[in-house]
Amino acid sequence: MAAGLGTRMKSRKAKVLHCAGGKTLIERVVETALRLTSADRIAVVVGHQSEEVRKAVKHPGIRFVEQQEQKGTGHALMVCREALSSQDGLLMVLYGDSPLLLPETLQRLIDRQRATEAAGTLMSAQMEDPTGYGRVIRDESEHVVEIVEQKAANPQQLAIREANMGIYCYRADLFWKHVDEIGTDNPAGEYYLTDMVAILRRAGYFVEAMEIANAGEALGINDRVELAHADRILRHRKAYELMLGGVTIEKPETVSIDSDVRIGMDTVVEPFARILGSATIGENCRVGVGAIVEDSEIADGVEIGPYTLVSHSQLERGVHVGPFARLRMGNHVAEGAHIGNFVELKKTRMGAGAKANHLAYLGDSNIGAKTNIGAGTITCNYDGFNKHPTTIGEGAFVGSNSTLIAPLEIGDGAITAAGSVITEAVPADSLAISRPPQVVKAGWAKKRRALHKK
Ligand code: UD1
Ligand code: CA
Repeated sequence: MAAGLGTRMKSRKAKVLHCAGGKTLIERVVETALRLTSADRIAVVVGHQSEEVRKAVKHPGIRFVEQQEQKGTGHALMVCREALSSQDGLLMVLYGDSPLLLPETLQRLIDRQRATEAAGTLMSAQMEDPTGYGRVIRDESEHVVEIVEQKAANPQQLAIREANMGIYCYRADLFWKHVDEIGTDNPAGEYYLTDMVAILRRAGYFVEAMEIANAGEALGINDRVELAHADRILRHRKAYELMLGGVTIEKPETVSIDSDVRIGMDTVVEPFARILGSATIGENCRVGVGAIVEDSEIADGVEIGPYTLVSHSQLERGVHVGPFARLRMGNHVAEGAHIGNFVELKKTRMGAGAKANHLAYLGDSNIGAKTNIGAGTITCNYDGFNKHPTTIGEGAFVGSNSTLIAPLEIGDGAITAAGSVITEAVPADSLAISRPPQVVKAGWAKKRRALHKK
């Protein structure tokens, strides 16, 4: 169910579109569901910003049901009749704003339901403070009699600590047979899904409740404080999983690693690193303090120095980047190449063993193997209207503070003299020098000082 707006988020964006652990809430719940069943058996109830919510669900084959007006959790299921009622077996109901639920816990709910004659099993938990939750009322045989919402509960019922987590597993045939009996006779005037318990009981069935030890797992996100809490838990889970898989994470509470990231054995992640999106990092790498790696492919033995940004780039084995480097996007750095401090790369290919160790901007460039780019080299790739490429061959030497006016080609083994402005092609193995010749005036400085003393 993902039709609500989520007023307490104070956002223009529907609640389920907010991210925790680097993923939208809805995508996360859908992924959890996909661990239990196939896409064609999943339907997402959409209403607010339904177009955007549909787009946020990346997996193909999942169906969407429009709930134009949100008339309550029971109504959200009623609109699903056409999409789901032909399916046999069990019907599980999940909230789009509960991103912390583990598939194992949901599987236990299913197993528990399968093991009994019950018409359904709901998930509950004992809570210190169940305010806001529906209370689970049981009879002497522990079956659930009804769920009473906060607004409708009497003082005696309010004292009950067993709360409804809002996750249910019903026998599909019975559910669809009786769902239309849900009415709006309650203080909120909504169709309450929770009424199903009493309805099924009236029809001669019974409903069970499975208590989970940690109510926090079923936490529904209502505001940004809870969103931050869920984000922290999800990132903690991810770091934990990686550490058990052989990754060293220093001060894991400070790093942010998105759920889909993969990291190989013996890689060390230093404090405050952020590894985001679909990034994959090989074995034996180091991600320095404060580094950000997003949607990039990092091979084995790569060193990413402190405070370095690597975005949408590919780094081959044994590459060194940073500290303080920025690989903006679309870069490919081949085996053993070095990118040093204050070097920016954009859509650039660095050949194997090539070096740009200090203060450079290399954009739209293709740099050959073993070429050395001197400090302060700038590719002037933009003329104010268009971007132009720079191609440098293998084993070339670009002198410090070279200004390379693109489009430009520099051949294999060529040298540009430091401080040159290079506007024309430099053939292989030649020297290009473009700077005013130096003039030395012997004794000039001394004479000038003498002049000023008078
Ligand atoms: C519900 C349960 C309550 C339980 C609590 C657990 C009911 C009546 N009450 O209350 O017993 O303790 O969850 O968190 O079910 N939604 C729709 N369409 C609608 C209404 C809601 O899609 O018409 C979605 C919302 O976007 C949300 C979810 O269903 O994701 C839950 O709705 P909400 O109104 O928050 O239910 P609660 O009042 O929290
Ligand atoms: Ca809620």
